Amino acid sequence: MEKCEKAEFFEKISVFLEVRVKIPLGGVAFFDSGVGGLTVLNACANRFSGEKFYYYGDNERAPYGNLPPTLIRRYTDEIFQVFSRLQVKGAVIACNTVTALCVDELRAKYSFPIIGAEPAVATAAKAGGEIFVLTTRATFNSPRFRALCANVAQNYPQARLTPYSCDGLAGGIEEHIADSFYDFTRFLPCGSPRAVVLGCTHYVYIKETIKNFYGCEVYDGNEGIARRLSTALKGDFYEQKLSKIERSRDGRPPFSKAVGESGICDHFLPPNQKIRIVKEKANKRSCIKIGKSLVISGVSSKNEFFFLGSGANKNKGFYERMFVF
Ligand code: DGL
Repeated sequence: MEKCEKAEFFEKISVFLEVRVKIPLGGVAFFDSGVGGLTVLNACANRFSGEKFYYYGDNERAPYGNLPPTLIRRYTDEIFQVFSRLQVKGAVIACNTVTALCVDELRAKYSFPIIGAEPAVATAAKAGGEIFVLTTRATFNSPRFRALCANVAQNYPQARLTPYSCDGLAGGIEEHIADSFYDFTRFLPCGSPRAVVLGCTHYVYIKETIKNFYGCEVYDGNEGIARRLSTALKGDFYEQKLSKIERSRDGRPPFSKAVGESGICDHFLPPNQKIRIVKEKANKRSCIKIGKSLVISGVSSKNEFFFLGSGANKNKGFYERMFVF
C-alpha cells in the first residue's frame, strides 16, 4: 500500500473504532443539555478513584432552558433510559433546568440514587443583602425553583432574593465559550447585588466574568453536588438503593474510594484530571449502542471517562481542554 493510501486507510479505521467504543457497565452517570455539566463532573471526579464516569451532553438539542417543559421531560427520559441500560450505580443531573422539572419523577422511576443540581440560594442568603439568582427561563418558571426561593426567603429574612431569567446566556456559552472576545455580560441584569447565585451549570464557565461584572461574591452549587454524590455512593442511601439491584445483578463494581477534597471547576484553570482518548475495538456482546452517537472514552490516572451524546464529536476539543489529555 502507498504511504498516503495507508494514512487514509488508518483514518477510516480510527473513525470506525471511535463510534464503537466499548462501554463498561455500572459507572456513575452525568447529564446536562450540553457542556455545562462538565464543570460538575470536574468538581466530582476528583473525589473518586478507580471509577467509571459517563457524561451525556445533549449538545445538538441544547439549550434546554427555553424549551417547553414537556419536551425537556421527553429528552431527559430518553437519556435516563440510556443510563438505565448502562446499569449506572448513580446519576447526577448536572443541570438546574432538568432538576427543576424532572428530578421528582426520575427518582420515582429509577432505583439508583439521583443527585440534582439546585441553585445554592440558602448558602448565599446566610449573609443577607440583595442576592441575584441567575437561571434559565424554564428554571425561573418552575414551581420547584419558586418553592426553593420562598423557603429560603422565610428562613433568612435578612436576605432579599431577586431571581432573573438570563435568556440567551446558556446558548451563548454553549456556542461561544472558546471565543475570548464574546461579550457574555450583555445577558446579565444590571444592579449592585451583595452576591450572585449561578442557577445554571453553564454559567460556571463565566464565574470570573460575573464576579468582575458585579464586583461581588458569586456562588455555584458544584461543590455541594460533589459532596452529596460522595455521600450517596458511600453512605446508607447508596446501600439501601443498591441492595435491590445487587441481588439481581452479578459482577457490579465495588464502591468507589474517596480521595480527599476536590479542587476548582473553572473552565481554563489547572485541570484536576488528566485523560487521553483511547479507542477500543468493539466487542459486540458488551457494546452498548446508543443510536448513532459517537462515544469518546478517556482514562486519567484515577478514573475512566465515557463521553456520550449527540455533541460528543463536536466537543472533543472541549474535553481535551477541560480535562487535558
Ligand atoms: N446547564 C443547564 C442548567 O444548569 C441548562 C442550560 C440550558 O440548556 O439552557 O440549567
